[in-house]
Order: sequence, then structure tokens, then C-alpha cells
Amino acid sequence: MDAASHMANRIKTECLAPDRSGIERAARLLREGRTVAIPTETVYGLAADATSDKAVALIYAAKERPSFNPLIVHVPSIDAARALAEFDDDAERLADAFWPGPLTLVLPVKAGAVSPLVTAGGKSVAIRVPDHPLARQVLAAAGIPLAAPSANPSGRISPTRAAHVLTGLSGRIAAVLDGGPTGVGVESTIIGLSPPTLLRAGGLPVEAIEACLGHALAQRTEDDAITAPGQLASHYAPGASVRLAADHAEAGEYMIGFGKVTGDVNLSPGGDLTEAAANLFDALHRADESGRPIAVAAVPDTGLGRAINDRLRRAAAPR
Ligand code: TXA
Ligand code: MG
Repeated sequence: MDAASHMANRIKTECLAPDRSGIERAARLLREGRTVAIPTETVYGLAADATSDKAVALIYAAKERPSFNPLIVHVPSIDAARALAEFDDDAERLADAFWPGPLTLVLPVKAGAVSPLVTAGGKSVAIRVPDHPLARQVLAAAGIPLAAPSANPSGRISPTRAAHVLTGLSGRIAAVLDGGPTGVGVESTIIGLSPPTLLRAGGLPVEAIEACLGHALAQRTEDDAITAPGQLASHYAPGASVRLAADHAEAGEYMIGFGKVTGDVNLSPGGDLTEAAANLFDALHRADESGRPIAVAAVPDTGLGRAINDRLRRAAAPR
């Protein structure tokens, strides 16, 4: 089945239980070149065989993702990652310190290691070793590297529950493995190498990475081409408008609170940024479903707050 007919003919999306038979079924579908949404510790990813052009094309088709936007490859171990990409000393140090975990490294790709659709034809590949028991069991059972962007239609809010995946992609993907809500709640932090550069704030705080390296990360410069929707101003977009740093709801608004600023939901009544990150996308999904304009309380810009504010700015950006 090619990508176009996959889009045209809606397929039945299987909902798989988080048990041995669900894991085996997910692995088998993936080996057959199908798409399966799986939980990771950050968000649900839409996985497919990273070595198969056809399988990767199904990801782009299901998400309606611009094909110039490359994908993250998920592998079970540092050794498996070394088979796909060149590691320098900084990459070794970061992988050793933070894998498995919410860190993605962008490294020079080894020739022929993955489908060119994964790298969007470029010379680098983004890789991570996820730290979620189900993701790890699926990787072990499938025995192939898995390309997996967040399991949402391109430009929309990332999924932290199987229900979010089905809202966006039901009928477009073979299955979703239901592992309940994800723990971290925002996507992985993405680091480019030589020199180590912050490409996307995420689930691993920048402070932890800089402490490991012993120096500050370089920042992406303004001249760098923006080729990735995850780096575009408008992303994670709900249907309605989003107002930031609100201290109360205006009439009709759906209010997302934080700390003492209350609302229809509160990211963390105690002001805890880890808890707020875990609740962020579910709150945005709920706000989106309300159909009302959205207001969000201010969140401090340290630790995981950087990733939260990055996602909120993109959700609020003009589109
Ligand atoms: O936590 C996560 O990272 C989740 C889970 C599923 O692992 N995945 C995720 O994938 O957020 P996605 O596709 O939604 O975001 C990946 C980001 C995009 O902004 C993409 O452009 C960037 O990573 N990226 C992928 N490959 C790259 C490369 N070779 N160079 C630079 N950026 C790259
Ligand atoms: Mg995404």
C-alpha cells in the first residue's frame, strides 16, 4: 500500500493492551512495515521501521508532515545507536550520562544506516534511547530501529495519552499501544554536536546537560535555516487562540492555571515544574476540546519550565 492510498482508505486502528500479546502484536506490525503509536517517557511516538522507505513514508502520510522535516530514530542501546551514527567524545559523554532518557542527539549518519526519508536526505540523524518499559520491550521484540515523531497530526498538540493519539490519527495508523499517561509529558531535549548546541528545549533540563559537559551549550543562531516544524514559530496549535501569562480568565476563556493562579485545570497547584510538564499537553487537549479561547498562567523559565514555555509560545504564535 503506498502512502496516498493509505491516506485515502481509512484503516481500522487497533488499540493494543500493554501486555505480552499487545507488545508482540505491535512488534509484528512494525516488522511488517506498518505504523504503530507507542508510549515513550516523553510523549507517544508514531513508530515505523526506520530502515524501510515505505514504512517511513506511512508516518509522513498519516501525520501529513512536510517531508523536509526529519525524524528521530529510537534504538534500545548506545551500541545500537553507534551502528547508525558517528559519536564524538561529547556525544559519548552525554549518551552515557542520560540514556535511556529524554535526550536526542543529532549526529553524522552512517551511510545506508536508515532510510533517507528519516534524515530528509541530510547528513545527520537524530537518535535517542527511550526510557519507557513498553517502548523498550517493543524495540527488543521488533529488533529494528524505529523512526518515531510525536503521534499527532503535523502542527497539532503532542499526545500524552492513547486517547489523544486516537483523536488525531484514528483510521490513519495500524495500531496504538495503550500505556496510560506518559511520565515526562514534553518531548526530548535535542542537542546537536561539534560543538554541543541546544536545538530544542525538552524533558531533560539544559542545566543538567551543561553540568555534565562542564560548559554552556551553544545556541542555534538566527541564520540557521529553520527546516523543522518543531522549530517553527507556530506548532502545537490548538484550534482556538492562546493568551499567555494570564493572571485570570477573561469572560468565556478556558483557563490553564499554574501554582496560585487557578483555572479550569491547573498544571501544578504546588508550582512544581516536573508535574506541570507532565500535565501540559493533556491540559492543552482539554482546552482545545472545550472550543473556547485559551488563557494560560505564567510559568517560570527555569529547568523544565523552558520546555513548557517553548511549547506554549508556539501554541500561541500567529498561524
Ligand atoms: O520525545 C521526543 O523527542 C518524541 C518521542 C516520540 O521520542 N519525538 C518527537 O519527534 O518529538 P518530533 O518529530 O515530533 O520532533 C523531532 C524534532 C523535529 O523538530 C525535527 O525537525 C528534529 O527533531 N530533527 C529530527 N532529525 C533531525 C536532524 N537530523 N537534524 C536536526 N533536527 C532534527
Ligand atoms: Mg512533534
